[in-house]
Amino acid sequence: MLWEELQIHIEQLAEKAQKRTLIQAESDGCFIHIDGRHLFNFSSNNYLGFAHDERLIHASMEATRRYGVGATASRLVVGNHPLYEQAEDALVRWKGCEAALIVNSGYTANVGILSSLAGRDAVIFSDKWNHASIVDGAILSRAEVRRYRHADVDHLETLLKKAERHKRKIIVTDTIFSMDGDVAPLRELVALKETYGAMLVVDEAHASGIYGEKGQGMAHEHEIAEQIDVHMGTFSKALGAYGAYVAGKRVVIDYFINTMRPFIFTTALPPSVLGTICTAIEIVQQERSLRHHLHALSDYFRTHLQQAGFDIGQSTTHIVPIIVGDNERALAFSVRLRERGIVAVAIRPPTVPDGTARLRFSLMATMTKEQLDWALAEITAVGKEMGLIV
Ligand SMILES: Cc1ncc(COP(=O)(O)O)c(C=O)c1O
Repeated sequence: MLWEELQIHIEQLAEKAQKRTLIQAESDGCFIHIDGRHLFNFSSNNYLGFAHDERLIHASMEATRRYGVGATASRLVVGNHPLYEQAEDALVRWKGCEAALIVNSGYTANVGILSSLAGRDAVIFSDKWNHASIVDGAILSRAEVRRYRHADVDHLETLLKKAERHKRKIIVTDTIFSMDGDVAPLRELVALKETYGAMLVVDEAHASGIYGEKGQGMAHEHEIAEQIDVHMGTFSKALGAYGAYVAGKRVVIDYFINTMRPFIFTTALPPSVLGTICTAIEIVQQERSLRHHLHALSDYFRTHLQQAGFDIGQSTTHIVPIIVGDNERALAFSVRLRERGIVAVAIRPPTVPDGTARLRFSLMATMTKEQLDWALAEITAVGKEMGLIV
């Protein structure tokens, strides 16, 4: 009986072109091997190509040799191996914060931050397009959740005015929105949090390594890092590895160490990951030319797609959607591009709102302008074939 219900649910997803399946994929720089084919990859978050960087591979292997393959316990028990302190010290210098804490993943970080900071006596103000991990953290916290219209600071202010005075107020936002590539109005959010006595939590998952003089993130790029209460970012995207960080005041980090259940009740990261993170934090600060190249490529790519007539939403970064609307069309677009040697995965509800299915293109600093010219020609040809552009 239960199995039948589950089967029906899967079939309903398939009818709406929302059924997901796993495909085996092996990435190799900006290429990927799928079904024996070598394809150009627009779907990875390995924005700087660090996932295959020899220096990081070496660091990972050295850490394994020195400390073994597993952390053997949670950090508060005996899993806090020496590389944690090294990595957190490097983070503090990089982010310019008083303290930092490494947690097991970006998902864990967001669920942990919100469920730890907010309880029944709090209100969380969350941008409607925030990542699922923020949505889940807000639910788990049991706080009252007010979702404001995407990047709409007037709507946020209306909601802040209505909130009960005595409640703790937490505003939370992605800095770069993961499926749209647009940027949160950070300066306005800082002004509002100050006016209404709220805390501001920012998720730099897609900006870490890419924005800011040393790749610290969008808050540094906008020179408002010191006004942010909690910085969160990941090592799983531009830094090529795995895991995430939370940074801020010493008291905030101590509070998390004592109350963040997804940090407390889980085995620490393996030494190989920590070794990689330590080196990634050092090298990312020096990779200015990679950042510049990625920004130049992204500007070029967006401009050409727009000129061709595609709807790329509000993207201003290295994440560029082509919004198609219908789920089936988005899937068909993706399949046709794959036939021409390009991987750009279709993103459908519930990841994005109904009626906004899209292909999400993410650029990598290891791509060349010549490769983009070829890809743009293919994308434009398929767009015309499908009547997406004229
Ligand atoms: C904005 C944002 N936050 C958090 C995460 C989760 O990070 P991780 O993959 O390290 O768990 C993602 C992942 O895609 C993300 O896009």
